Amino acid sequence: MLKSLKNQLVVALCLLVTVIGVVQGVSSYQLSKTGMSALLDMRLVQVAARLRDGLAESLPKNPARGTQDEGDVVAVVWKPGEALPFRTTDPSLHFPRDAQPGFTGVEVNDEHWRLFTRQEPTMTIQVAQRSSVRRELTTETAAVTLWPIAVLLPLVWIAVALIVRRSLSQLNQLGKEVQCIDMSHLQPLQTVGVPTEIKPFIHSINTMIERLADSIDKERKFIADAAHELRTPLTALQLQADNLAPHIYPGNQERFQELRKGIARAGGLITQLLRLARADAPMNGTPLSRVDLSAVVTGAVSDVLPIAISRGLDIGAEEMVNAHVRAIETDIGMAVKNLVSNAVRYTPDGGTIDLRMRRDGDMVWIDVVDTGPGIDEALLPRVFDRFFRANPDIEGSGLGLSIVKAIAARYGGDVTLANRKDGRSGIVASIGFPVEEVTESAAAVTDCA
Ligand SMILES: Nc1ncnc2c1ncn2[C@@H]1O[C@H](COP(=O)(O)OP(=O)(O)OP(=O)(O)O)[C@@H](O)[C@H]1O
Ligand SMILES: [Mg+2]
Repeated sequence: MLKSLKNQLVVALCLLVTVIGVVQGVSSYQLSKTGMSALLDMRLVQVAARLRDGLAESLPKNPARGTQDEGDVVAVVWKPGEALPFRTTDPSLHFPRDAQPGFTGVEVNDEHWRLFTRQEPTMTIQVAQRSSVRRELTTETAAVTLWPIAVLLPLVWIAVALIVRRSLSQLNQLGKEVQCIDMSHLQPLQTVGVPTEIKPFIHSINTMIERLADSIDKERKFIADAAHELRTPLTALQLQADNLAPHIYPGNQERFQELRKGIARAGGLITQLLRLARADAPMNGTPLSRVDLSAVVTGAVSDVLPIAISRGLDIGAEEMVNAHVRAIETDIGMAVKNLVSNAVRYTPDGGTIDLRMRRDGDMVWIDVVDTGPGIDEALLPRVFDRFFRANPDIEGSGLGLSIVKAIAARYGGDVTLANRKDGRSGIVASIGFPVEEVTESAAAVTDCA
């Protein structure tokens, strides 16, 4: 739990605040007790002074016992030569007449008293108060000083937690942003409004992103160049093979056909590599057009129709939606075609392939549903990896879905592949793009045209 920076800060700050609060509480409690005690002492001194100034005479000579309240101050006045107090407010209390002048503590009738003795030439004045009453008074008063701290401490804890959480939320936000970095569109992180402490961190990440983008770009260029360079000698090889074909002995024909197939496979791989390099490359201002998705879908179906018919595949497009996407038309065509050709390639003869369109918020989706063998669930997450092939028995370069993914990402779309959930075996491959909404004025212009 204390591995979290937030928790560490909250615990440390709360502990600090608590220690300060406790020290402050204890000291104000003690101070207030001492202050209250001094006040009570002062009262005893003042009462003694009043008695000296003449009030002693006004005390009753024989006061009734027990008429005094527990908390009251008891006053006793002695005259020289007299064995009993000259005046007293409680005759049952016998304070030691010879007590030291000033404040002393005495035990009388099993109770502890705080006694103030004042020696005058004409009289001795003693004023006393029960220590238990004084304790009660000082404790009550001192306890009141603890209330503000007791109420404030939990509030400060909550404030600390909220402030720390708020301050660190920007770190969390940064973490989320880094997590969401799209490898196909590497963009530097924003530094506007970011706390100064986090800025160096973001600068380092941005430098890393720059280097990464640079190396990805170099890799992309290398693949494109390599594919391009390989295409010419391979075409020459293919021509040579074509020219050689009539001169091959019948006994070598089978091996020669294998050679031609190999050349064709290499050609296919190079074509896919070039397509992937193109789909991955930045668009650099290539003009976009308004692509009619339903036309793309019907186009993809017609392209594979001859091979589908020859293999007894029932292929068709249904639930068409009128939707357009702003894109390079060949990109959208290639993405849909790759999904459809996968369905044709991996569905056994006599199967069914359905193409459907659907709107979902501001996205339009094309689903290609087949009745093929589907893909092992464990392998599904890897199908978009380059050169990954779940079914090595059937020929392919393993780049088709990578191309589809790159094209979808290029236009802010998405592609998904899943096994059918309707109890039948097969794949549902879906590609979605943000719909280009037609504004009224644009529609009017289109209508006029
Ligand atoms: N409709 C499908 N049914 C079953 N398996 C599929 C389907 N679509 C894709 N796959 C599996 O996913 C793998 C990757 O597909 P991908 O299109 O990327 O490559 P490929 O078809 O092998 O080669 P190519 O580059 O020629 O398209 C395929 O090899 C195949 O095993
Ligand atoms: Mg494919």
